[in-house]
Amino acid sequence: MDKAREAALATLGRILDKNQDLDRVLAALPDDMHPRDRAFVRQLVATCLRQLGRIDDLIDTSLRKPLPPRMTVVRHILRLGITQLLFMDVPNHAAINTSVDLLGRQKDKRTAGFKGLVNAVLRRMTRQGKSLLHKQDATQNLPDWLFEPWESAYGGEAVSDIVTTQSIEPPLDLSLKPGEDAEHWAKELDADILPTGSLRRKSGGRIEDLPGYGDGLWWVQDTAASLPATLLGNVKGQHVIDMCAAPGGKSMQLAAAGAQVTAVDRSANRLTRLKENMTRLGLEAQIITADGVEWTPDAPVDAVLLDAPCSTTGTLRRHPDVAWLKGQEDVDKLVPLQAKLLAHCASYVRPGGLMVYCVCSLQPEEGAAQIEAFLADNPDWQRQQITPSDAHILPEMITPEGDLRTLPSMLADAGGMDGFFAAGLIKST
Ligand SMILES: C[S@@+](CC[C@H](N)C(=O)[O-])C[C@H]1O[C@@H](n2cnc3c(N)ncnc32)[C@H](O)[C@@H]1O
Repeated sequence: MDKAREAALATLGRILDKNQDLDRVLAALPDDMHPRDRAFVRQLVATCLRQLGRIDDLIDTSLRKPLPPRMTVVRHILRLGITQLLFMDVPNHAAINTSVDLLGRQKDKRTAGFKGLVNAVLRRMTRQGKSLLHKQDATQNLPDWLFEPWESAYGGEAVSDIVTTQSIEPPLDLSLKPGEDAEHWAKELDADILPTGSLRRKSGGRIEDLPGYGDGLWWVQDTAASLPATLLGNVKGQHVIDMCAAPGGKSMQLAAAGAQVTAVDRSANRLTRLKENMTRLGLEAQIITADGVEWTPDAPVDAVLLDAPCSTTGTLRRHPDVAWLKGQEDVDKLVPLQAKLLAHCASYVRPGGLMVYCVCSLQPEEGAAQIEAFLADNPDWQRQQITPSDAHILPEMITPEGDLRTLPSMLADAGGMDGFFAAGLIKST
């Protein structure tokens, strides 16, 4: 396990000091690392990132004077130690001894001078940590660039609920091919059937080993991500452009529902995964690598599903690094790109055709504000109000304007869901 803790320390450093993303750093762990160690690294680092605001507060209030700026590694060791003591089932002596050992193994020998401090802070956590946690507010885990816009858009109570669901390991959601018996597969997969129609398993185990994977009977897709495509209604026989399609969750949904799908994305790498996914499911789509701001189909199409690139702040359960790696400047860069994609996609929908715009973001600028601006500039388009009778959409997911807004705190008892925004738009005939 010591190798795993060393790897966790290096992983945390690469994320927080070098701005690399969690999935990429984990994917670069040595091939020969035991799966148990790999899982431990993932759990330790992801839990630390989910609780980082509170953990840093505990560290800061335990120190008489701040750590020297060049001793970031000491802070990382404390962060991982506290994560194990307060948020994981690691025995106290193991969490403390391994943290002190890690200090001793650093190349920079000045870190050894912090052994007493690390020992003292971690021992304090074993005595007072739980009661100190009770005095904290869970929203301390949100940096200001997220807390402030979320509080003004959703209210303080909702933000607390969002943070609570975001601090737990997310379950595994599967979308079943249409026509498959949900009850049967729920039993086979040891899953629950959610009101949104997805099957939900507690995470764990290799996805490839689950029944039905090799036969291509389901695909992995957060239940919230499965909702936007349903807003296009019956797509059988229709030509649908899935814009920004990779890795293909929504293309699979549309093709499985009988649409003639053209999947467009600018990332050839990600489209390779889309192709593999489609092949496993026995589905077909025309696959095009292109920039969606410029690419145009040969003839007007029935519908477009635009899953625009976004800040991904609705997916912090799975990607807790996003809170610390991104910032308002990323949102500010993405908003004009989303607007350009919306305008260009709208230009090739036939009269009477539909467009669904969606993002896995909780930032209002990337969601409702984009639709308001689009409708103001395009009088030949109207919002297609979503109603509770739309399959699998729960009433609390519909905004007063008639758009879809899922929050991570929805279906909280079942483990929550990603935060998504989607709007249905119809072009005048
Ligand atoms: C939210 S992901 C799409 C997820 C996908 N729709 C699914 O359901 O699996 C956004 C995608 O947009 C792509 N993208 C970003 N900018 C683009 C552009 N200008 N044109 C086309 N694709 C773009 C990215 O490569 C990425 O695959």
